[in-house]
Amino acid sequence: MTVAAIEAVDVSRTYELDGVSVSALRGVSLTIDQGEYVAVIGPSGSGKSTLMHLLGGLDRPSGGRLVIGGRDVASLTAPELATLRNETIGFVFQAFHLLARTSAVDNVALPLVYRGVGARQRRERAAAMLGRVGLGHRLHHRPNQLSGGEQQRVAIARALVTEPAVLLADEPTGNLDSVTGEAVLELLERLNAESGVALVMVTHDQEVAARARRRIAVRDGLIRSDTVHDRPGSAGAGEPATLDPAPSAEPRSASGSGPGRPSGGSGGATGATGRLPHAAGGAG
Ligand SMILES: Nc1ncnc2c1ncn2[C@@H]1O[C@H](COP(=O)(O)OP(=O)(O)OP(=O)(O)O)[C@@H](O)[C@H]1O
Ligand SMILES: [Mg+2]
Repeated sequence: MTVAAIEAVDVSRTYELDGVSVSALRGVSLTIDQGEYVAVIGPSGSGKSTLMHLLGGLDRPSGGRLVIGGRDVASLTAPELATLRNETIGFVFQAFHLLARTSAVDNVALPLVYRGVGARQRRERAAAMLGRVGLGHRLHHRPNQLSGGEQQRVAIARALVTEPAVLLADEPTGNLDSVTGEAVLELLERLNAESGVALVMVTHDQEVAARARRRIAVRDGLIRSDTVHDRPGSAGAGEPATLDPAPSAEPRSASGSGPGRPSGGSGGATGATGRLPHAAGGAG
């Protein structure tokens, strides 16, 4: 049995702000397996970024259990969590978050510094990774000398240079025009397919979400649906805009601590619609 890359059980996150509590996540359970391609979708403020921060160990849950790379986050000190993050997770954000005065190759090499990799090897690995994202000819450009799409590709190379198990991308194409965004999306999908890194991507775009094999819809801090689709990319047609589980979709982790419900009942999607030939189980 392989260990899940990330496992969240009834995870919640409440922010305290000026004496007011904001329940950003209210009990979310999900498992991310090796090599999956997962789209996370939901309205603004529904908790998607909060969820991504937790899944990546950038933040800790207020309640519930979170296991990253087989290790319970609650049992780790801050430095241990940072190390686990460095070893397991790559992040790509909407704003690229590159170091402005630093060349592409040194931006990409940075996570390897924390790994204790020697300078020469860092540069070699960073240059090779930049080659994989099509930027072998831009190693020494600084971010402001690169286009938006190129900057995001540098950020992707930086996220992957450590060979993480999971790449978490929070609206990675949100700051890009549609053509550039499409190129970045194709790059992420190719890296997911080639290197086996699990890709979990937040998107506002239904068509983008429809390309993923698994789709998680978040609303009001809860997972509203979590479905695996037989034919990713085919989804646009026939799928309700709300991302309710489509007839061809299989609910994924409907069991157990469903959002706010103690009963383990089936999420309803499959049972309700019946038609479900062979979409089940393992992704990837
Ligand atoms: N640091 C914080 N302190 C207080 N409240 C916060 C904080 N971060 C997020 N929130 C609140 O938590 C809720 C979820 O925020 P989150 O950023 O996860 O939403 P989102 O789904 O990513 O939205 P968007 O699509 O706009 O990026 C929102 O109501 C937000 O205002
Ligand atoms: Mg967000």
